[in-house]
Amino acid sequence: MSEKTPFYITTPIYYPSAKLHIGHAYCTTVADTIARFKRLAGYDVFFLTGSDEHGQKIQQAAEKEGVTPLQYVDRIVAGFQDLWRLLGISYDDFIRTSEERHHELVQAIFQQIYDQGDIYKGEYKGLYCTPCESYWTKLQLDENGCCPDCHRPVQEVAEEAYFFRMSKYADRLLAYINEHPDFIQPVSRRNEMIAFIEQGLEDLCVSRTSFDWGIPVPFDPKHVVYVWFDALTNYLTPIGYMDDKAKFNHYWPADVHLVGKEIVRFHTIIWGCMLMALGLDLPKKVYGHGWLIVDGAKMSKSVGNVVDPIALIEEFGADAVRYFLLREITLGQDGNISRDALIGRINSDLANDLGNLLHRTLSMAKKYRGGVITKGAGRTDFDAVLEDMAAATFADYTEQMERMELSAAIKTAWALISRTNKYIDETAPWTLAKDEAKAAELDSVLYHLVESLRVTSVLISPFLPVTARRIHGQLGFTSDFDSVQLADAAWGGTPDGHTVGSAEQLFPRIEIEK
Ligand code: MSP
Repeated sequence: MSEKTPFYITTPIYYPSAKLHIGHAYCTTVADTIARFKRLAGYDVFFLTGSDEHGQKIQQAAEKEGVTPLQYVDRIVAGFQDLWRLLGISYDDFIRTSEERHHELVQAIFQQIYDQGDIYKGEYKGLYCTPCESYWTKLQLDENGCCPDCHRPVQEVAEEAYFFRMSKYADRLLAYINEHPDFIQPVSRRNEMIAFIEQGLEDLCVSRTSFDWGIPVPFDPKHVVYVWFDALTNYLTPIGYMDDKAKFNHYWPADVHLVGKEIVRFHTIIWGCMLMALGLDLPKKVYGHGWLIVDGAKMSKSVGNVVDPIALIEEFGADAVRYFLLREITLGQDGNISRDALIGRINSDLANDLGNLLHRTLSMAKKYRGGVITKGAGRTDFDAVLEDMAAATFADYTEQMERMELSAAIKTAWALISRTNKYIDETAPWTLAKDEAKAAELDSVLYHLVESLRVTSVLISPFLPVTARRIHGQLGFTSDFDSVQLADAAWGGTPDGHTVGSAEQLFPRIEIEK
């Protein structure tokens, strides 16, 4: 097992019932950025995503298309994997709940909890929302008697079923949440969960008999395991819960389960009780992020306001889409996406601030010094200000990233870019170039520009991995970009006498048709 400190981060596993939209891509992009940052900072990262393939909804959709559920999900899941590849999602494993390795684990866990008396047989009478795969009590329904989450009709069901004794764990869970303020974040979500548990927890129905696309209960196979009970255990499957105890103990408990705000309840209450029943530690953090909204409504297929991430990536490139999502939306809050706002960011921040800085720097280095960068003499006041700002940027950025304040961290990095653009105006290298007596000063200016861009490329690499690599290459660094570490963002890494490469446009400006 690696000597490095482990860091285990997960996204939810996505339902393959619909095409993924940019809202799903948001969650995965955030997780990817955190995973990349942690790798950069020297952690042994395990980043998990996947697909949640069972349940009545999938079975019905497959029947409608005249294919088996597995044929149905195979095609959709291949589409997920294409999207993640296009978006540069650096997951370490992709778990599908239809896989054998996962079935074994779900059955073993179900059996264990049953054997210890925490799962028992009873009769389920209640209200079920098929699209959300959720059971509700009458009191929880919305004002129209519909599902409080998606506001679609619920069905009355009555069937023999197995129940998980969640009620037994309610007090322990509440005490745990109160004693571990970091467990549920942000704090608004934590308060919601506390209020929810304080109303009292009922035992949870964890099996169904009305369909069969699921994992059979091991000792009573006419029942299939409730899809959430099945899905949540995905987090244990790839890290060796069944077959590699050393690996499991290395990565568990998870450092972060990143989830949308509407499924925090499943990840803290149901999952928390399941883990307590299994005698396992709870995840260190469940972070409920906000939604991507369009004109005030959550983006979703049923509302009909979805933005297709593949079309956006094909038009603007993955890094531009990543930049927009990570910069515009404060983690934990809802955020708007619009084409105009995306184009605005590309033109001002990516093409103008960053792209032009790189282009100007490399052109001046070529023109005035044949591309060879030397440290020059002395340190002007302008140089000192830029160096101090780079050091402060590195420190602030690192703290913000550690606190998962991604939007703040990328703004911090961009402030250094803007400051470096200002430094060009202040030092006016074109004037220095005309005066032989200022040769050493010009050397120093060019060095500072290259160095600032080198630092920038390290800091932005978790956000804009393709762009960061291109900057590294254009600056003439031949070392493997994958071996760059966070510590390389300290000032002074460009060696004296370094030769820069040629400028290529990073981001073309997008012309807006009126
Ligand atoms: N399959 C369950 C998760 C099981 S995890 C053990 C599920 N799947 S989902 O496909 O419906 O949603 C997956 C994630 O996408 C959720 O975290 C959800 O919040 C997120 N998003 C779906 N629409 C979204 C937006 N419009 N905006 C941001 N995230 C959104 O739930």
